[in-house]
Amino acid sequence: MIITVTMNPAIDKTVEVDHFCPGKLNRIGYPVTDAGGKGINVSKALKKLGETSIATGFLGKAGSDIILDVLSAEQIQTDFISCEGITRTNFKLMELDGTLTELNEPGMTVAREKVEELLEKIEQYATKDVWFVLSGSIPEGVDVDIYARIITKVHQKGAKVFVDADGRALIEAIKAVPDMIKPNEAELAEYFGIRRELSQEEILQLTKRLSDIGIETVVVSQGSRGAVFADAGEEKLVYQNALAVEVHSTVGAGDAMAAALVYAKEKKLPMQKMVQLAMAVSAGAVVTAGTNPPDRETIEAILQKFYG
Ligand SMILES: Nc1ncnc2c1ncn2[C@@H]1O[C@H](COP(=O)(O)OP(=O)(O)OP(=O)(O)O)[C@@H](O)[C@H]1O
Ligand SMILES: [Mg+2]
Repeated sequence: MIITVTMNPAIDKTVEVDHFCPGKLNRIGYPVTDAGGKGINVSKALKKLGETSIATGFLGKAGSDIILDVLSAEQIQTDFISCEGITRTNFKLMELDGTLTELNEPGMTVAREKVEELLEKIEQYATKDVWFVLSGSIPEGVDVDIYARIITKVHQKGAKVFVDADGRALIEAIKAVPDMIKPNEAELAEYFGIRRELSQEEILQLTKRLSDIGIETVVVSQGSRGAVFADAGEEKLVYQNALAVEVHSTVGAGDAMAAALVYAKEKKLPMQKMVQLAMAVSAGAVVTAGTNPPDRETIEAILQKFYG
């Protein structure tokens, strides 16, 4: 079973304008409303892969119905902790020429007792063969070492953890040695305190260093340059070029890749299959317009085309 944890979900509102004029009145079309937040995106991508998951985390009482309705319509099971406050809204402004302007609210402050409630809930789900996905930013009121606390707690029950985070949250999480991580190049550099672009050689070396900490699977995603995979069961690192697909929207490629990785792990697929699926699902997200994850047919077609 896979449980995705989203601590800071958002109502995503996408509006279209021909041309956005700052400082002027902009008339917009009807907004398209969707449920967002990185763990929720992983649950959606898993659903397209035919895999069920339970989405948990925090939801502000005001606006929670919007998120829950979307997820229920997509037949994704939910088990969120309801908090005082408003579920944040993230606005995406799409212009005709493809320019995307994003306005993200900070989100509510979570009360201490709600954090403990979530930890208890997570612990109840934690059994052997369960994979937790801890993905995205940590809201106000929640300590930055929350991912580390979850990792330590669920490891005691034999469950596994995948972390997709950045900054301090990632630094703290790595101290507790999760089972799988997928930083992108920038997150990798930031983790090691490097403030410039990394060479390919450095990316390979730093991937190895993370793997040597004891993290079973380390994947460093490099956008259109592909990805590096390190798996404890394999001696060598695997580098894959990005699949040459038609690019429509790279939004959500990382979350789609995360879903493929945890899917492969939960199904105990061999490394080669995991690599292929991760590359195909993330390429599928790039082919698919907007923030939507790729559907099964798109993924199958890409797998067939590139891996036969
Ligand atoms: N232009 C592209 N063409 C083909 N594949 C791509 C392209 N961009 C991204 N991908 C695929 O998606 C994967 C993840 O992309 P990326 O490294 O940008 O993730 P990310 O930075 O975590 O994204 P996110 O912003 O969603 O968190 C890449 O490793 C690659 O397989
Ligand atoms: Mg990412």
